[in-house]
Amino acid sequence: MKIAPSILSADFANLKDDVSVVEKAGAEYLHIDIMDGHFVDNLTFGANVVKALRKHSELVFDCHMMVDEPEKYITDLKNAGADIVGVHLEATPHIHRVLSQIKASSLKAEVVLNPGTPVMAAAEILPLVDQVLIMTVDPGFGGQAFIPETVAKVAELAAYKKEHGLDFEIEVDGGINAETIKEVAQAGATVAVAGSYVFNAKDPAMQIATLKEAAR
Ligand code: DX5
Ligand code: ZN
Repeated sequence: MKIAPSILSADFANLKDDVSVVEKAGAEYLHIDIMDGHFVDNLTFGANVVKALRKHSELVFDCHMMVDEPEKYITDLKNAGADIVGVHLEATPHIHRVLSQIKASSLKAEVVLNPGTPVMAAAEILPLVDQVLIMTVDPGFGGQAFIPETVAKVAELAAYKKEHGLDFEIEVDGGINAETIKEVAQAGATVAVAGSYVFNAKDPAMQIATLKEAAR
């Protein structure tokens, strides 16, 4: 299981150091939650923070856009040094166009599904994507409780992927801890985002090791 620490729960006044700690601890991705106060009721940061962190990290920058009109931000994210750009299916009527735009910018394209969105709503665009993010909480805030019903969605997606010979990572995001990661690993998730579990602890490196061990 790849681990993607979410900087939403990091110390914004010491971001560089917090990123360095999780990088040294063996995290594969850095999960960057971009929120616009419209698609979700919270505001965070954008391409400028991606650009600032890029100078200090070799991690895969996994940008989770929780914004309306996501097509507006793709070029800036590319120029800032993003690697993966995720777009919510619920955020645009033109998901195929936006994902194609991400791929045309030589970025990895991800579709993100809210807990209330069925897996099969993404069926037509699955051959196009590099990663699918199954939200395991409703997006907007760190520290929320894992929604158990989402485990069946991960399993459904993993089965569909196998049946159709598709190739993409299956990421989960929200409420991931040493218990819930076992359930999603069993169901077929290959990347787990963890925010509060990693950063709201004294020893983030230890938390990452615990997650990796639990998912084995
Ligand atoms: C929530 C964000 C998550 C958040 C997860 O909208 O997409 O990435 O940081 O936080 P935890 O792991 O605390 O649930
Ligand atoms: Zn996220």
